[in-house]
Amino acid sequence: MSQLSYKAGQLHIESNNLSALAEQFGTPLYVYSKSQILANWQKFRAFWPSQHKLCYAVKANSNLAILQLLAQHGAWFDIVSGGELKRVLAAGGSANQVVFSGVAKSEAEIRFALEKGIACFNVESAAELERIEQVARALKTRAPVSLRVNPDVDAKTHPYISTGLKANKFGIAINDAMAVFRRAHTLNHIELLGADCHIGSQIMSDAPFLDAAKRMFKLLERLQEEAIELSHLDLGGGFGVDYEGHATLDLENYLQGVIDLAHDYPKLTLMLEPGRAIVGDAGVLISKVEYIKRSDDKQFVLVDAGMNDLMRPSLYQAWHDIVPVRELTGVADGIVDVVGPVCETGCFLGHARHLNVNADDLIAIKHAGAYGFTMASNYNTRVRPAEVLVENDRAWLIRERETFDDLIRGERLIAEE
Ligand code: LLP
Repeated sequence: MSQLSYKAGQLHIESNNLSALAEQFGTPLYVYSKSQILANWQKFRAFWPSQHKLCYAVKANSNLAILQLLAQHGAWFDIVSGGELKRVLAAGGSANQVVFSGVAKSEAEIRFALEKGIACFNVESAAELERIEQVARALKTRAPVSLRVNPDVDAKTHPYISTGLKANKFGIAINDAMAVFRRAHTLNHIELLGADCHIGSQIMSDAPFLDAAKRMFKLLERLQEEAIELSHLDLGGGFGVDYEGHATLDLENYLQGVIDLAHDYPKLTLMLEPGRAIVGDAGVLISKVEYIKRSDDKQFVLVDAGMNDLMRPSLYQAWHDIVPVRELTGVADGIVDVVGPVCETGCFLGHARHLNVNADDLIAIKHAGAYGFTMASNYNTRVRPAEVLVENDRAWLIRERETFDDLIRGERLIAEE
């Protein structure tokens, strides 16, 4: 990310010295660059005419301050739970700029979202459509709805984050879609507004995106033939981030391709749901080296951040660049495994890295802004890290480090008889 650079031998994010932030707020510490988030947002905006919507996928990073920042810059939001809707509202966002995805929405979540007046439900099955109809009928209202179609394209990403194949649990199979659209069109408490798809995450090529978009436009054509007119088409998120430094997604080509496909639909509003691409490269996780441990054929760098803080390496074998906060001169000679404190062999941040560090040094794990904190857990009774947002030389603590008391709140000892 361009907001990270060494100045006087120390890694800075914008004009903030990461060592100083670590000293002030402790480690492990998530630090996000406000300028980078806004630059990423503007990049999408630049290729996406203003009548079309950008719905930030809250799950990527749901800190209230980040939602607030994006709301102030005109973001809509893509949510997947009632909790995420509460976050958007708490951050000052508007329910009528929220679309609600997710395969297993509960009745309570549907009711809550209807009462708050969300913009649209992205409906993932025929059964969910019937449930939304019932809840809307009980509330004497009409539910705004889009049907999520599974277009059966291979996004060529990690199998755990591929969602647009027939074999995945998401959306309504494209071959069944017409029947469900017809049904939605006839229901009294459903206002059928759109169609949507989302084929997966961390996609680095525009080909599968365009393939899915073409299938969705074909579907719109078939719907029109049956006089079912939609006002929007939401093509989801999934825009890959350059974790390894050798490939970038041609965003402009993809977005222009979609706009071209929409040429014959002047009244159609297009939507996207980017998450990772907005916040991924805007964040780093700072961690302190506790110990160095050498065995016959291995060298371990044992650090204070673990899989509970950043789960992506353990869960997806994801690569995150790891760099020292104090600039090193010369070439790193050793090859090390950077591992965390959690009692699992799978608790690592990087295997076989060239990194020369000593105990008490700080390291920065890059591209940690998306699916970092939001996937953090308390495994091993570890408190989740603090989060800081910076801009130029300013820094705001946007989440306090958890405390042990936070962790046991709500737990009860058994009363003695
Ligand atoms: N829309 C829907 C319906 C989604 O399911 C997702 C992500 C997004 C939008 C945003 O996708 P993005 O633009 O961020 O790729 N934990 C995984 C990623 C899981 C993504 C799940 N869905 C990771 O750390 O790589």
